Amino acid sequence: MSYARILGTGSHLPERVLTNAELERMVETSDAWIRERTGIRERRIAAPGETTCDLAEPAARRALEAAGTAPEEVDLVVVATTTPDQVFPSTACLLQARLGLAGCPAFDVQAVCTGFIYALAVAERFVRDGASRRALVVGAETLSRIVDWSDRSTCVLFGDGAGAVVLGPDEETGILSTHLHADGRHEPCLTVPCGISRDQERLRREGPAIRMQGREVFKMAVRSLEALVDEALEANGLGRGDVDWLVPHQANHRIIEATARKLGLPMERVVLTVAEHGNTSAASIPLALDQAVRDGRIRRGELLLMEAFGAGFTWGACLARY
Ligand code: UT7
Repeated sequence: MSYARILGTGSHLPERVLTNAELERMVETSDAWIRERTGIRERRIAAPGETTCDLAEPAARRALEAAGTAPEEVDLVVVATTTPDQVFPSTACLLQARLGLAGCPAFDVQAVCTGFIYALAVAERFVRDGASRRALVVGAETLSRIVDWSDRSTCVLFGDGAGAVVLGPDEETGILSTHLHADGRHEPCLTVPCGISRDQERLRREGPAIRMQGREVFKMAVRSLEALVDEALEANGLGRGDVDWLVPHQANHRIIEATARKLGLPMERVVLTVAEHGNTSAASIPLALDQAVRDGRIRRGELLLMEAFGAGFTWGACLARY
């Protein structure tokens, strides 16, 4: 049996740091409330004119370099994003052109905060069945473009960034399993309620803006992620304590703590970037993964659980031996 293995990781953040202190001057909030309820201290914001693809490209190049892969070796480009540069072409096609590639398949995956797990699951199948030998999988977002900066219940949460991995075939180990779920009945809990084909009048009036019933999302996230931990472990005949690292979607440190408890993992074994990045949606897992790989925490052969929950609702996990 052949596996898809993570050959290299990369990430990129925009320069501008937006602190909680600055948000205190924009809406009625406090640094203490944001830290206590979410764990976030600051987040990065793309410069005017800086696009999702602008963030994706350096992340992709770093992942390729780490994997020892030349751009022309890439034979599949999958970008997970909810904030594409344009309606079309896909951000994956824009990125493909920037990398000087032509001919290989390139497409976007839209599963909001679970987007990277969905993209990884799709690319893994291409690699495992021999259709791809070097798959570039990117999570990239400019969430700041769809934030209502007058809504304190959401504007303190989100940030911009990009992360990437390169997958290639390996006979011995790699991604062990992926687990994807969705339940579209919960659309009103977390939504941008207008768009290209729905309520363009509102879109023109208000612009696209995230609306969230935070408490409902929180409860569903904790419940769904706990069930997902059981599902992923059971599928591989593993138990609590077998996982070396939790690399979670970074929405809220309290949600992450609940998942770590369920896994029986101490917080030192959890890769946490929520304090510095906030919630970067599809970018948060590959950003965290790259940080922990580059600072030497995650080592070859260790078992990682990556998981996410987001709008849709969508949720998913990937168990991988790095
Ligand atoms: O990644 C996609 C998935 N998204 C998530 O996973 C997010 C899940 N939800 C959450 O992380 C949390 O629900 C939030 C961080 C969004 C909110 O935390 P909470 O502990 O659930 O707070 P809450 O919404 O229940 O609000 C508590 C209070 C409210 O005031 P009252 O009604 O108790 O007087 C809010 O109006 O906090 C108030 N509040 C704020 N206060 C200061 C809400 N936002 C703020 C704020 N600053 N920014």
